[in-house]
Amino acid sequence: MGIPRGTYDILPNEVVTWHYLEKIARQLCERYAYEEIRTPIFEETALYERGVGETTDIVEKEMYSFTDRKNRSLTLRPEGTAGVVRSFVENKVYAELQPTKWYYFGPMFRYERPQAGRYRQFHQFGVEVFGSDDPAIDAEVISLGLEFYRSLGIEGVRVGINNVGNPEIRAKYFEKLIEYFTPFEAELDTDAKSRLYRNPMRILDSKHKRTQEIATEAPSILDFLDKESMENLEQVKFYLEELQVPYDVNNRLVRGLDYYTQTAFEYMVEELGAQASTIGGGGRYNGLVKELGGPEVSGIGFGIGLERVLLALKQQNVSIPTAAPLDCFLVSMGEEAKKASVRILGELRKAGLKAERDYLDRKLKAQLKTANRLNARYVVILGEEELANNQIQIKQMETGEQTSIAMDKLVSYLLEGK
Ligand code: HAM
Repeated sequence: MGIPRGTYDILPNEVVTWHYLEKIARQLCERYAYEEIRTPIFEETALYERGVGETTDIVEKEMYSFTDRKNRSLTLRPEGTAGVVRSFVENKVYAELQPTKWYYFGPMFRYERPQAGRYRQFHQFGVEVFGSDDPAIDAEVISLGLEFYRSLGIEGVRVGINNVGNPEIRAKYFEKLIEYFTPFEAELDTDAKSRLYRNPMRILDSKHKRTQEIATEAPSILDFLDKESMENLEQVKFYLEELQVPYDVNNRLVRGLDYYTQTAFEYMVEELGAQASTIGGGGRYNGLVKELGGPEVSGIGFGIGLERVLLALKQQNVSIPTAAPLDCFLVSMGEEAKKASVRILGELRKAGLKAERDYLDRKLKAQLKTANRLNARYVVILGEEELANNQIQIKQMETGEQTSIAMDKLVSYLLEGK
């Protein structure tokens, strides 16, 4: 039995990096006045069918759905927005002071073909803001995501923005796209063909070469936008400039989820290659709260793929903090010294020090080697003789300096050296 395809273990030395990513994200969200929300990892399947959209890849072929013992259809969350909107509605948070600004972390599940930066269980850091139509909020959300990459030291992140209008505009645009693509139908790839009459906008972000060539001449959504949407795009651009966020307007930018209205955006790092280059994306979803049973409340947010962030960090050789070293490793020789070392270990830990001892009855030399391997700052040596004199030997590993101190001074000595 092995690990399921498309999943991976995060081993302890990598967990340190994950803690770091979360710490940076939390600190940032704190500064932007966002609060953390935690929703279930599974929801009713219908939530995603209605929220994410029936004709999306996610709902059509990527969901991990199952029935429970009472025959309810449930789905492991393929993304975070639908669950967060459900929670916003169900807890009547719309009745409180707006806007509501939330963030979240967690695993998401999509049945996709695994490859570099693409997994079946992956992790997102996301934010969702409810209750404001102000384009300044769009700019805030976009800049918060960019700030996350910057705080980590990732360079060359490009922000692509677009306005995808409202459902009426999109319906008109869909017709024009179908009209445009139909004569090329035979040349389109299978995916594009199947999308032609159901979701032709998705053909625009095809990775297939010939389909891409055909799509370059397709009509642009910008020519269909109404005055309000055009103005909205201009305002978002204005505020992005105020926040010194560089961006490119990309009228081919379409997102893979159906709920988007108005602003849509993506973060890209080109060097990561076609499949992994999109390290985050988001947009407005002004109809979703209503669609999921709430009042007419606007929303906007993003989801950032943390595996892709890790990939970018690795590729750009950004150094990330490692685990804190051991403050002290206790080496003991003889039965009595062992007992004393167990007691001292407890005291060190109570005092807030990171301390460890040998639990395999190793010889002195092997214990010292272990201390080295564990990267201990100090090694304390406790033998029968030291015990009799209430003294201990303490060695600073970096300098090799060794001194003898009174046993009851150990804690304060180590705390001072921290
Ligand atoms: P999404 O574009 O589907 O949007 O996913 C956001 C990010 O998650 C992607 O840009 C990518 O970095 C990462 N991602 C997606 N699928 C995978 C995968 N299979 N393996 C690894 N990483 C992946 C959403 O999920 C929306 N909920 C974002 C949003 C929030 N829009 C508004 N609010």
